[in-house]
Amino acid sequence: MSSNDNDFAFLNDVSTVAVVCLQFGDTGKGKIVDWLAEWAEVVVRGTGGANAGHTVCHDGKRYVLHLVPSGILRDGEGVENVIGSGTAVDPGALTAEIAALRAGGIRCANLRLSHQAHLVLPQHLVLDRVRESCAEAGKIGTTGRGMGPVYTDHYARLGLRVNDLLNPDEFVCKLRRNLVEKVRLLRTFDPGVVRAVMQHEHLASGAYYHPETIFDVDAIVARYLGFARELEPLVRDTGALVRRAHWDKMRIVLEGAQGSLLSVDEGTYPYVTSSDCSLHGLARGAGLEVATDVELALGLAKGFYMSRVGEGPFPTELGGERSAEWCGRPDVTEAREAAEYPAVSVNSSDAFEQGIAVRRTGVEYGSTTKRPRRVGWLDLPLLRYAVQRVPTRCELVLTKLDVLDDCERIKVCTHHEYHGSGYRQAEETLRPGMSIEVANPDSTVLAQSVPMYQTFVGWCSQLRNVESVHDLPAALVTLVGALEDWLDDDEVGADVRVLSVGPGREQTIVL
Ligand code: IMP
Repeated sequence: MSSNDNDFAFLNDVSTVAVVCLQFGDTGKGKIVDWLAEWAEVVVRGTGGANAGHTVCHDGKRYVLHLVPSGILRDGEGVENVIGSGTAVDPGALTAEIAALRAGGIRCANLRLSHQAHLVLPQHLVLDRVRESCAEAGKIGTTGRGMGPVYTDHYARLGLRVNDLLNPDEFVCKLRRNLVEKVRLLRTFDPGVVRAVMQHEHLASGAYYHPETIFDVDAIVARYLGFARELEPLVRDTGALVRRAHWDKMRIVLEGAQGSLLSVDEGTYPYVTSSDCSLHGLARGAGLEVATDVELALGLAKGFYMSRVGEGPFPTELGGERSAEWCGRPDVTEAREAAEYPAVSVNSSDAFEQGIAVRRTGVEYGSTTKRPRRVGWLDLPLLRYAVQRVPTRCELVLTKLDVLDDCERIKVCTHHEYHGSGYRQAEETLRPGMSIEVANPDSTVLAQSVPMYQTFVGWCSQLRNVESVHDLPAALVTLVGALEDWLDDDEVGADVRVLSVGPGREQTIVL
């Protein structure tokens, strides 16, 4: 079923739109971008890499995209899908993703790849994983897709870019230069760990490993020049393409990755990813000049809950530290949770079990890593902070609302109370007992911020069957209204525009 034409009337006065997550990622950007791609002429990714996992469900099939923009299912309808210069491109992951899409009947005829995007190479994948396995280095809980090392090389002016794939001599020369420091650094780690990490399937199952020099340069070059031949037809100056489309007022959707609270510049540093995945970074990475070139930001938040993967403070986490510890264990999988907690309920009085029930209902397991996502109630101070950082008109999209269908009581964190000791921040000193309405993204402060809740009656009905605004349950309408009121002040201000009540395109309600 295709969307109702009127669905996109709210976009009549805009041409450049961005889809950004206002939480810690995994809010369903893939589904919303796929839905909007019916309206769009160009869809652009601007940040992140294969650490992202965007799930799109259509015609009974489920596609998990990592680097390819989620407009790709409309490739046959002529939508251009662009991987912008701010992304970090793992050529092996990208070629595999394109092959899988083509096998599924999607030709990727209109897929474009920026010549300036940085390349994720074996040394980045190894370093990311080796650092994470070394407790003293301070664990972030990364996805292991090389993001930290690749963005570090970008700023250290050591990186290789897609354009280098088009010039084999240049590629080899820069690769050798890049490896010098990486080898020195890797020699400071346990050689057994390095050897083990290099057997990973993302590292060609050991094919790049050399027992003396760590990297077998010839093996890497042979494989990457093979990727180069496959990717060459896609390579464009996508910055010029996107800017021209913007000036020509073509309908553009920028597709964010991760979430604002994971932005290296605006998020809960250091528990963040390595790119600026806020609207600012997305706009630049897509090829626009500034974030205010975006006329409308659609900010995504899960409908009255949120999730976080990896380490870092999460005040509203259901089950608190017990949940964080459980979700951080490498042996906890979806299957294990199902076996150990077969009958947990979203109405359980034990918050840890309630969290497991929400996770299982929402299938909150990483699409890239399969890790269980930590889940918790909607945190308004964090949402207010994220909305405040959007420098353009912002409207909210509440996603995955159907996950809480059976929940009898829904808690919303309205403010934080600071419970740490005196903590100096710039010209201020935070004191115990202080009330915080707009969250402070400093991890030290957030870790000491205790959530204060207001409880609402749940809607207790099946939202997936709701087709029109008029059929929305009253309890949900009350909650949406309360959310808009909470966000309604001079500095924040964002109305709720779209409700997503299921994974399908048609399960999208415009208010
Ligand atoms: P990295 O991006 O792999 O370096 O991981 C840094 C942090 O960002 C970790 O906590 C990851 O779990 C988190 N992260 C990275 N990508 C995603 C995503 O797509 N969804 C949710 N969390 C993510």
